[in-house]
Order: sequence, then C-alpha cells, then structure tokens
Amino acid sequence: MKPEEVRSLFPIMEQRTYLFSGGHSPMSTPAIEAVRELTEQWTYGIAELYERLSEHVEAARTLYARLIGADQDEVAVVDSTGAGSNLAVELTDLKHGGNVVFDEWSYPSSIFPWMLPPKEDLERRFVMSRNGIIELEDIAEAVDDDTIAISISHVTQGEGFRQDLAAVSKIAQEHGALLLVDGAQSAGAVSIDVKELGVDFLSAGACKWLLGAAGVAFFYGKRNLIERIPPPRAGGPSALRPPGSSPADGFTPKPGAARFQLGMPNLLGLAATIPGLEILTQAGKSQVEAHVLELSGYCGQALRERGYEVLTPAEPQRRGGVVAVVMEDPPDVERFMRDQKVDVYSGHTYNRTLRIDPHIFNNSGDIDVFLAKLDEYEAM
Ligand SMILES: Cc1ncc(COP(=O)(O)O)c(C=O)c1O
Repeated sequence: MKPEEVRSLFPIMEQRTYLFSGGHSPMSTPAIEAVRELTEQWTYGIAELYERLSEHVEAARTLYARLIGADQDEVAVVDSTGAGSNLAVELTDLKHGGNVVFDEWSYPSSIFPWMLPPKEDLERRFVMSRNGIIELEDIAEAVDDDTIAISISHVTQGEGFRQDLAAVSKIAQEHGALLLVDGAQSAGAVSIDVKELGVDFLSAGACKWLLGAAGVAFFYGKRNLIERIPPPRAGGPSALRPPGSSPADGFTPKPGAARFQLGMPNLLGLAATIPGLEILTQAGKSQVEAHVLELSGYCGQALRERGYEVLTPAEPQRRGGVVAVVMEDPPDVERFMRDQKVDVYSGHTYNRTLRIDPHIFNNSGDIDVFLAKLDEYEAM
C-alpha cells in the first residue's frame, strides 16, 4: 500500500493537517469499521463474542510480533508503554551492588520502576547528551561489569533523537547487561527488528505510531528472559490449566509471554488497534520508515533554513518521525495552529519546543501547510 492510499484511509486528513502521531494517531476507516462491528456484536451477539475473546489478542500479538521481528509467543498485550516497561524491570534479575544506566532523555516509566523496592538501592547512572546526541562512547563509559541494565528510549519524545540500538546492545552484551527499550516513539515509524538489534525487552503503546488505540500496548521479551524467573503477577489466563485441575493444585505459568495476560482483554482497544497494525504491515516497514524519514528530514531542514534551532538531528539514522524545534512560546504557536486546523504539539515545556510528527499518511504538502502557517504566525 502506497502512502497516498494510506492517507485516503484517514478521514481527518480531509479536514485538518494532522501532524501529531507522536501523541495519538487519528482513527482510520478500517478501525472505525472494526469498532462498529465489535459494537454490533457486543449489542446483539455477545455470547458468541465471549467465546472468541482470545482471537483478538492473538491477532494483535501476531501482527505486532511480525512488525518487530519477534516470535508471537514473545509478545504480550499490556495496557500502556509504562506497564510494559515496569514488567521488563520486574523480569530483570537483581544483582547486589549493581547499577543501571539511563540517558538523560530516558522516559519516566523507564526510570521510576528502578526507584521501587527491591531495586531502589541500585546505583543509577545518567548519560548526558553532548551537542544534541547521546554519544555511544559516553554510554560505553557508564556501563561496567556491575551494570544490570541499560534502560533507554529508541526515539526520544522531547528531541526526536534516535539511538543506535545495535551499538548499545553490543555495549550491554560485553558487560552481561540487558537492554530495555521504550519504543513508544519508534515502533510503527521506523523499522525495528528486535533480534537484529539485540533488544532484550521492548515496550510500545499502540496509540502513537502503531496507529492503534490508547489503553493497548505491546510488551516484547526475549524468550529465555521471559521464562527465566517466575512472572511477577498471575491470573487465570496466565496459567496452564489442564482439564480437571484446580487452582489449589498450584500455579504453572503458560510458556512464553502468554503468562503475562492476566484477565479479560481490552476488546474495544484491540478492535481499533488491529486495523492499524494491518495498515502498517501492508505498507511495509521499510516504506513507512523511508517516508517518515523523508518528511521529518524535509521539515527539519526547512525549519533550519528559516533560522530555527531544531533539536532533532539532521542525519536520518539519528531520528524517526518526531521533529522538535525550539520556539519562544510553543503553546501559543500550538493554539494558533489548532485554530488554523493544523495539529502539532507543545507539551515539552522543559525544552521550549514545538513538535511536528509526520507519519505514513502525511505528505510534504502537510509540512508546507505547517510552514506557511508558521510564517503567518511569525509575521503577526
Ligand atoms: C517515549 C515515550 N514513552 C512512553 C510514553 C507514554 O506511554 P504510555 O502512556 O503508553 O505509558 C510516551 C508518551 O508520550 C513517550 O513519548
């Protein structure tokens, strides 16, 4: 499926210039249709739907696993990126006297779980950026044989910086450390192959670049790490329950990531998410990445030419879809743009940036509309 065909599936693009997929992607017509169908079944055929609950979970796991180069049984559906990041930390063995390495842009849910017992006594090391980049040599310097894990974002939300995961994984492996990755701003925008990149745990919400719903997210864990220690939580669907057995007989977790499914799935969220994963699959991850990088590159370049300070690196391998540009008053620009039917984001007050997030359904004309409106704003 070509980008223009993908665009035709998003009704919002007939009304607005939507450039905020790093917050929440808009709904596509296949997703609207799937939710309508689910609502119909919920209304008139709920008993039948109830019998097929797990089909939705399995479909989503399969599609997502394929997208990231994982096996289906290494993927669990969770409810947020943060939930997946917490699970990854819980599955990380505690080594006394160890440390964990972050970078200064690691997302809070990649950091806070390490501040809870029993891991709160680990030394926390933060690698700072230099010239807008988290340098690999600085990560290498922070990591030693006592490092349990490196916990970072693939693409950072405030800067749009993309880390070289294969290189970080090499550093981690040299010291027996695990690599925990927040993929909320990368999965669905740039190509990911967890095996090739050497990622141990990956967590990503569905509602951003994966074109799905809030309340649905995906956890990936390498198979040997999933099964190495008992799961931190247990529920009915997470257990192997041979016919005739009773819970009193004991808890045997299911093999693979199915052990992390604790109860009833988020059916509405999954119904809205599966079509998004199908669209990305049909577009193909290399085409999606090429398109997203072309647009984020075009946007960054045009802003630089206008004299703005763009935090997002110009090199394509160092960015994804997020473009962050420093503005005097980002919320004011965001408000102006919203009135002009252009959706961008100003939430990162700590670095005074406006964010422009082009996805596969955007085109260079959308960037041109944003730039023309920006020129208008500056001329006021
Ligand atoms: C890098 C990153 N991680 C995590 C999140 C939050 O995701 P969730 O609300 O699914 O935990 C965001 C949201 O913007 C994000 O940008």
